[in-house]
Amino acid sequence: MTPQPRLRTLPAWKALEAHHARCGGEHLRDLFAADPERGERFAAEGAGLYLDYSKQRVTDETLRLLLDLARAVELRPRIEAMFRGEAINLTERRAALHVALRAARGQVITVDGQDVVPAVHAVLDRMAAFSAQVRDGDWRGHDGRRIQNVVNIGIGGSDLGPVMAYEALRHYSDRRLTMRFVANVDGTDFAEATRDLDPAETLFIVASKTFSTQETMANAQTAREWCLGALGDERAVARHFVAVSTNAEAVAAFGIDPANRFGFWDWVGGRYSMGSAIGLSTMLAIGEDCFRAMLGGFHAMDEHFRGAPFERNLPVLMGLLGVWNCNFLGARSVAVLPYEQYLKRFPAYLQQLTMESNGKRVTRDGAVVDYQTGPVYWGEPGTNGQHSFYQLIHQGTQLVSCDVIAFAQALNPLGRHHDLLLANALAQTAALAFGKTADELRADGTPDWLLPHRVFEGNRPTSTLLAQRLTPAVLGALVALYEHQVFTQSVIWDINPFDQWGVELGKALAGHILPALESGAEPALGHDSSTNALIRRCRERR
Ligand code: F6P
Repeated sequence: MTPQPRLRTLPAWKALEAHHARCGGEHLRDLFAADPERGERFAAEGAGLYLDYSKQRVTDETLRLLLDLARAVELRPRIEAMFRGEAINLTERRAALHVALRAARGQVITVDGQDVVPAVHAVLDRMAAFSAQVRDGDWRGHDGRRIQNVVNIGIGGSDLGPVMAYEALRHYSDRRLTMRFVANVDGTDFAEATRDLDPAETLFIVASKTFSTQETMANAQTAREWCLGALGDERAVARHFVAVSTNAEAVAAFGIDPANRFGFWDWVGGRYSMGSAIGLSTMLAIGEDCFRAMLGGFHAMDEHFRGAPFERNLPVLMGLLGVWNCNFLGARSVAVLPYEQYLKRFPAYLQQLTMESNGKRVTRDGAVVDYQTGPVYWGEPGTNGQHSFYQLIHQGTQLVSCDVIAFAQALNPLGRHHDLLLANALAQTAALAFGKTADELRADGTPDWLLPHRVFEGNRPTSTLLAQRLTPAVLGALVALYEHQVFTQSVIWDINPFDQWGVELGKALAGHILPALESGAEPALGHDSSTNALIRRCRERR
């Protein structure tokens, strides 16, 4: 029998539908007017983060029904199954145990009967020793010169986490090291990242879980040639290349000394891997202590997610509010708006985390869903976005929910800058919620003909995440918050957030197109007429 999706048949879901039909249109203006305490009541705190969700379009009743839904889909036992290391990634038959990457020494987490925590800490200790050597100048290049540059080669989870964390924690980084990140197979990425670097002073980290990803392997090969071309000795690879991978054989076949491989495990998904050895570039930049503080932040949020009651549980609340926005209010995208320049790559990082995880159309047992799943994530740091796409969020025809992220303290206090920044962040959430009515505009002297253009409907939902300042621990907590929000939503939508079959087809087709592009003769092109014509055109103009 063809499996059927269950979600919409659940009484808890039907209750939410009925509730939405009754009061889904209520305006935030009225909700705030009716409850002077709303701004204080609709808030929760955990692991150094304060979440204000009072500007989400929910009532006490909405929250009660969403929490009923969480119980109906058995969220609590599903969280436990993840933390216990069960093989919850069903299509790949493995655990999804990123929480073990930040478990405290001595904690016991077993996979297939084996405690994985000692191995996690053994790798962390090796990373720490290696990072200290490089940072202290004890790890030298082939000709004895100090390493001044570190280039991380990787893509997807092997790039986005490292580059985001480096940018986010740059304030804490050793400025003597130049950090670069190469991801794209477009040669420009490599060329621009290395054009001003001296190979004798450059260390490459080849970061790839599988050590078979086409882009990373092409860039690693180019790096090898670039390095050996200058240094002229195969033995230089041992001083200028280290690998981060689960695939020991492929690392050795590439010529990297097995002693220079930092391993991790198949139960760490690529987009969940920044706390593993994939974070080696992060540790090189910020040092062991800051890296461990970041892991501490992750762990604090893990504990909060596992232990806090759902009504005060940040990832659960954010997950449920996201379901409400997506499935009931019709918001198909979430804008992530960090009012913190150091988080400029955070939206890009979240895109892979959220969309590769929850961009799925079938349930865990293969039924085609009859409801929306993961929304589109996007964003830019404030205030830049205000002068770009905020117009659409305020006055466009589609509903976008926003996550505003802000910090009470600046890392670079400069005159009034931080107050200006914070004032903008808070002003935007108020403007999005309450808008500006025709009456208010008239009272301000707006002529009638201009009113339709100047009216702000408001009622645009936002969550505000506030922390004291952007520290390594806060970054860890923030990332873990979104990881667990994604998990919470995947449980509601009954999908597997830990596989990514949707990236396979394009990879396979590229493998077929490459020979057609590279061959000189007119081949019997076995592709569709559009692809054939494009191949021919590219070839003629090469
Ligand atoms: O894009 C698919 C993907 O498998 C991601 O999930 C992963 O983060 C990325 O490729 C890189 O994979 P690897 O670390 O194995 O090179």
